[in-house]
Amino acid sequence: MIRVSSPYITEEDIEAVVSVLRSGMLAFGSVGKEFEEALARYLGVKHVVAVSNGTTALYLSLKGLGVGPGDEVVVPDFTFFATASTAALAGATPVLVDIDLDTYTIDVGDVERVLTERTKIVVPVHLYGHPADMDQLLSLSRERGVLILEDCAQALGSEYRGVKVGSIGHAGALSFYPTKNITTCEGGAITTNLDDVAEYVRLARNHGQRSRYYHVMLGWNMRMTDVQAALGLSQLRRLDEMIERRRRLAKLYFEEFEGVTHLRLPYEKPWAKHSYNLFTVWVEGEGVRDKLANYLRERGVETAIHYPIPLHRQPALANVKKSPGCCPKSEEASKHVLTLPLHPGLRDEDVRVVSALVKRFFAEHRP
Ligand SMILES: Cc1ncc(COP(=O)(O)O)c(C=O)c1O
Repeated sequence: MIRVSSPYITEEDIEAVVSVLRSGMLAFGSVGKEFEEALARYLGVKHVVAVSNGTTALYLSLKGLGVGPGDEVVVPDFTFFATASTAALAGATPVLVDIDLDTYTIDVGDVERVLTERTKIVVPVHLYGHPADMDQLLSLSRERGVLILEDCAQALGSEYRGVKVGSIGHAGALSFYPTKNITTCEGGAITTNLDDVAEYVRLARNHGQRSRYYHVMLGWNMRMTDVQAALGLSQLRRLDEMIERRRRLAKLYFEEFEGVTHLRLPYEKPWAKHSYNLFTVWVEGEGVRDKLANYLRERGVETAIHYPIPLHRQPALANVKKSPGCCPKSEEASKHVLTLPLHPGLRDEDVRVVSALVKRFFAEHRP
């Protein structure tokens, strides 16, 4: 089976993990801090706080930015559930807005339509590894006083106008789940240049302890272990190399699909560096996407749909606010997008096999 995504673990990674296991310092050792500092240097951001996963990173960032009951948090309708659920869990009202179909990221025009005096935060998601249009959002932030929290779960290493995502807004949330650009198994991190936000999340992830058994606020256990941090640190050393490999494989797909009119390929804006965390194409025609996915599965190629159900149709979010008429573009995307295999361990010949099968499908099933 050609997998749609897969972690890329080397002997070096295994050695790094084993060495922490041998040291006996599985938590609260020095490796966690080293990982945070290395990540902060890589991103060009003042603070990185490692936590248990991307969902807790989003949740703690929202809390650190001061979100609470009565506040509204604007999120795209087309993203992973956690982008919106964490706003609701923090006591705020998520407000769903549509996306731009070139990049699948938040539609800034739609954000403007839903802003009220209650809007506290806008959460652009750098979906699939393509950055959202941050300049437009930063001007909105200046004009309307809203804060920007970047959901960088799928975009570690992606760049907006030459600057790493996660260092642009007021805070950012990363995920290190196994399908992400680097992994710590489960894991996540908050990025910010704001001292008070960093201070809050550092305390909140560790029961509000300023010193051992001295609790200055209520908090949770949302810490990352040193075993995870060792894997993250080792992976981080190869991140740029892994992104280059992702970009090379994407280029191969572009070459293979040249002239194929039934697919809309990922689009990289001139100001963007896409990290291709997911290589997601748009399949033209009603119901064709699902037929293509079945065709590929029967021939040993795994695909995925990110995402089949937009947030405005999720039962758990039935009562949240939405932009007027929400959200036709997100709805369309959910019917047409298909993620093809792409990860650093994939071989060039795998891309050729997948592309040949896709082309054969269209030859056999003229839409
Ligand atoms: C866009 C987005 N946001 C948030 C998350 C949550 O991250 P985690 O799975 O590490 O909790 C994910 C992970 O799948 C994601 O893709």
